[in-house]
Amino acid sequence: MSFTIAIDGPAASGKGTLARQIARKYGFHHLDTGLTYRATAKALIDEKLPLDDEATAARLAGTVDLAHLDRAVLSAHGIGEAASRVAVMPAVRRALVDAQRRFAGQPPGTVLDGRDIGTVVCPKADLKLYVTASPDVRAGRRLQEILRDDETATYEAVLADIRRRDARDMGRSDSPLRPAADAHLLDTSEMSIETAFLAAKALIEEAMRRKQAD
Ligand code: C5P
Repeated sequence: MSFTIAIDGPAASGKGTLARQIARKYGFHHLDTGLTYRATAKALIDEKLPLDDEATAARLAGTVDLAHLDRAVLSAHGIGEAASRVAVMPAVRRALVDAQRRFAGQPPGTVLDGRDIGTVVCPKADLKLYVTASPDVRAGRRLQEILRDDETATYEAVLADIRRRDARDMGRSDSPLRPAADAHLLDTSEMSIETAFLAAKALIEEAMRRKQAD
């Protein structure tokens, strides 16, 4: 038996931190699906290939190895922007979603976070969370992260980037970012990560009891 948790939400909402904490607490496998789009974008950039050639991008997406996604390299700010451009192409999504579905379902459980986990990748997940926060709170959090490497970053530029990424992720026609009808909403704008974790934990344990009773 395997327990699947789907976590979706916009950039810098806190979903990644939450997903990692949940995976650690329950001993579940974790996949940050954003890294798979980032790895595809980085492969295109490294080969000096265009970001918008769907057949080429899908071919490289098919070579992404989920066991070797290097967060330290892939989390670079510029790669996120390129990833969101690559992620609008249906053939790229098909290749990556296939690999993500193979990852889900491993015992004893999996946590996948991204933009379309509850709606497309794992529509039958045992629990779905949609983690969000206001754009200004997310820009403030992202700025703190970026300032560690780049002290010239500004709040205005980061907020503009977040808004552009939200518009692209929510506005695309294939698998737009939106909460699944049966997702629990978690607005972390005024919540510490600890409070968000406790709220998620209560929902997980209730869903686990329900599944065992079935
Ligand atoms: O979450 P992260 O910022 O790493 O994601 C980078 C980009 O990858 C997102 O802006 C989004 O366009 C894309 N993505 C997606 N579907 C997912 C995960 C990420 O389209 N499940």
